[in-house]
Amino acid sequence: PAFTALQVMQDAPVIPVIVLNDVAHAVPMARALVAGGVRMLEVTLRTPQALACMEAIARDVPEAVVGAGTVRSKADAQAAANAGARFAVSPGYTSAVGQACRDLGLSLLPGVATGSEIMMAQEDGFTQLKFFPAMQAGGPAMLKAWSGPFFDVKFCPTGGVTLQNAPEFLALPNVICVGGSWIVPADAMLKGEWDKITQLAKDTQALRK
Ligand code: 3PG
Repeated sequence: PAFTALQVMQDAPVIPVIVLNDVAHAVPMARALVAGGVRMLEVTLRTPQALACMEAIARDVPEAVVGAGTVRSKADAQAAANAGARFAVSPGYTSAVGQACRDLGLSLLPGVATGSEIMMAQEDGFTQLKFFPAMQAGGPAMLKAWSGPFFDVKFCPTGGVTLQNAPEFLALPNVICVGGSWIVPADAMLKGEWDKITQLAKDTQALRK
């Protein structure tokens, strides 16, 4: 793949989790984030417009690296790759999704919430993982507990992360970056407040490790 999962995680302190309901929002939203220093963009596969949005960003915003979130199946991975996604993020892990991403040349950040899931992902060669849903499943204390047995795994906690609690996650040695939707608020997109999104992205630069 052009970008490894580690490179995707190291590019900025936050991977934005983006839900797009309108293709017209995709390009200005991506440009707004890039202007704020955030270029690894996770567009979630949870709206009918998601694939068209990825295509638009891949075509019109060369400074951005578009990835697909909510990848739950081989078909999702295939559709995302066809739409120009260059990395994938999944809310959980199956070997089928892991293999599909490998075959497609998509780096994958697999979601895990238990020790067994970490072990399954590790068995398949994945050592950079998304901890999802991070706050709901135990927060920073869970990552501290995992740092013992899973000393060779790095995480991107996502789910319930905010500008306020991100520093506590990023202070942990086994956390490289966090994920979150707070830097792309739905109402800002609806109102076309792109400067606001740029500012939210800029605010995250102070979180850099
Ligand atoms: C999600 O899949 O919705 C993400 O984890 C985002 O969670 P958040 O909205 O709590 O940041």
